Amino acid sequence: MKIVLIGYMASGKSTIGKQLAKKLYLPFIDLDAYIVEKEKMEISTIFKEKGEIYFRLIEHKYLKEIVASETKFVLSLGGGTPCYADNMKFLNETDVISIYLKASIGLIVERLKKEKSKRPLVANLNDEEMAEFIAKHLFERSYFYAQATHSIAIDTKKINEIVAEIRILAH
Ligand code: S3P
Repeated sequence: MKIVLIGYMASGKSTIGKQLAKKLYLPFIDLDAYIVEKEKMEISTIFKEKGEIYFRLIEHKYLKEIVASETKFVLSLGGGTPCYADNMKFLNETDVISIYLKASIGLIVERLKKEKSKRPLVANLNDEEMAEFIAKHLFERSYFYAQATHSIAIDTKKINEIVAEIRILAH
């Protein structure tokens, strides 16, 4: 079974992915962590020193590498992965099941206010700018996120409830 979790920054992809993988006895891979390991550089440093275009290029390369080389996994993508390099089209042509963890703008804003330093796209925005940026950005990205095999609204659910829901959908 190959399960890919997609969703905006701070929608819980990594936290939920880890729990889900544990329950299903599958290996867990976090695409950002995989990139950091392969490139030997933090994501924010890659953005700063090599630029976003380079990041999107290697993000695509490593996504393909993981999907081709592993037979089963739970994989959490970065928030932007589905929106570049035809990555959703690529995923939808494979046997991967993708799940969109759909969070509201309000929830994302609240979470990102507390943990924006590691996220180069929002690190320099103040709280007010962030709310505006996220509303617009999420709207643009929804087109790609909507191409997932399944969507789950996560705002009012606990982690174990979301994990249970994904297990039912992925069967
Ligand atoms: C990004 C999200 C990040 C990381 C990079 C770009 C984005 O991943 O890949 O900072 O474009 O939304 P998380 O969603 O895990 O924060």
